[in-house]
Amino acid sequence: MNILILGSGGREYVFTEKIAESVECEKLFVAPGNAGTAQLAQNINLSLSDFKGIAEFSLKNHVEMIVVGPEAPLVEGIRDYFESDNTLQHIQIIGPGKAGAELEGSKEFAKNFMHRHNIPTAAYSSFDKATLSEGLSYLKTLKPPYVLKADGLAGGKGVVICENLQTAGQSLTQMLKGEKFGAASEKVVIEEFLSGIELSVFVLTDGENYKILPAAKDYKRIGEGDTGLNTGGMGAISPVKFADSTFMDKVESKIIKPTVEGLKKDKIDYQGFIFIGLMNVGGEPFVIEYNVRMGDPETQVVLPRLKSDLLSIFKSMKNKKLNQEDFEISNQTASTVVLVAGGYPESYEKGKVIKGIEDVENAKVFHAGTAQKNNEVITAGGRVLAITGMGDNLEIALKNAYAGANKVCWDDIYYRKDIGQDLLALE
Ligand code: AMP
Ligand code: GLY
Repeated sequence: MNILILGSGGREYVFTEKIAESVECEKLFVAPGNAGTAQLAQNINLSLSDFKGIAEFSLKNHVEMIVVGPEAPLVEGIRDYFESDNTLQHIQIIGPGKAGAELEGSKEFAKNFMHRHNIPTAAYSSFDKATLSEGLSYLKTLKPPYVLKADGLAGGKGVVICENLQTAGQSLTQMLKGEKFGAASEKVVIEEFLSGIELSVFVLTDGENYKILPAAKDYKRIGEGDTGLNTGGMGAISPVKFADSTFMDKVESKIIKPTVEGLKKDKIDYQGFIFIGLMNVGGEPFVIEYNVRMGDPETQVVLPRLKSDLLSIFKSMKNKKLNQEDFEISNQTASTVVLVAGGYPESYEKGKVIKGIEDVENAKVFHAGTAQKNNEVITAGGRVLAITGMGDNLEIALKNAYAGANKVCWDDIYYRKDIGQDLLALE
């Protein structure tokens, strides 16, 4: 079958590589893709918000499945667009419709969903401009630090954590007045601060059945020791040792099952990934957030551990037969290190020539912000490459990833040298 993958990051590169391995894959397209996906598939210059263009391309090229990488097209309703047109209905979309994507598109919707279905999460209340003074009073009932979340999509940057009541009040006022995050913070969720260790759990569901993918931990801050600005993610590890079977059993019974059941009860036919950001608070899992897609760079450590055929798994979801699929997970540890352009996540330069990719041994090079220029691969984004190492334990996986990372260079390359060190210290 012919498949179209939407997106251009490391996550989409991994999807491309995994799907290209499948015997059932005929033509594989990626829009817009990067220099790496161009080597495995055909890159197509399409905008992810141009549903009409995506539909026309798909019909013309007999695409039967579209795998949606990032959240924006899902929140904007790409699935609904295809389902509502009978010339497009035969094309399977991997990713939920607009109603399901609200789990990521609106923090208030997600919190109300969890509340309705008794899913453990931090206590919360939400406010808009008209209820600003109630919001300020609510803050006084909480203990510091204060967690404020813009309701809408804010590129992963919509969460503000304030150390004292005064700055929390100021931030709430700015957010509700649209001075921070624009329309995304017309509503703000204020929630109780949870103290614990974070991890991410990934679920794939066809709306009826679900499969749990390996858990992962990502490293969001730019600086070593988890300091500095938040980024899209600077590295990731899978599995996460502290997520042992006792903990994961709780995650399944208290969070995953009620989430999938809750979607059914709410008549939301959800087909796609659910990425659950969790806090382990003294051995009990609490949901911090839902995303309606895979994580980046978590995909770079989760999918290399999946031994089964991803395309066959996706295909089975069309007829709600996910339960009949093999889902074999490798026991190996995977670690990824993200190589970024100097200056990221603030301003950075593009167009630097990348050297050494072909010298990487015992590790996988996943392209993200790369482009091809003449015969060279150049930087074209903030997060440029992710290098994934595998091994029988975390130490070996990290050794392989860093040996690979050390082979690659360009002017102004930066990466964290401490990925996984906190987990090694726990072992
Ligand atoms: P989110 O965009 O919801 O994932 O939030 C970004 C980050 O803020 C999370 O990865 C956590 O580190 C932190 N965070 C969010 N909510 C809470 C909370 N209730 N308590 C403590 N930290 C939080
Ligand atoms: N790495 C976090 C995310 O994909 O949202």
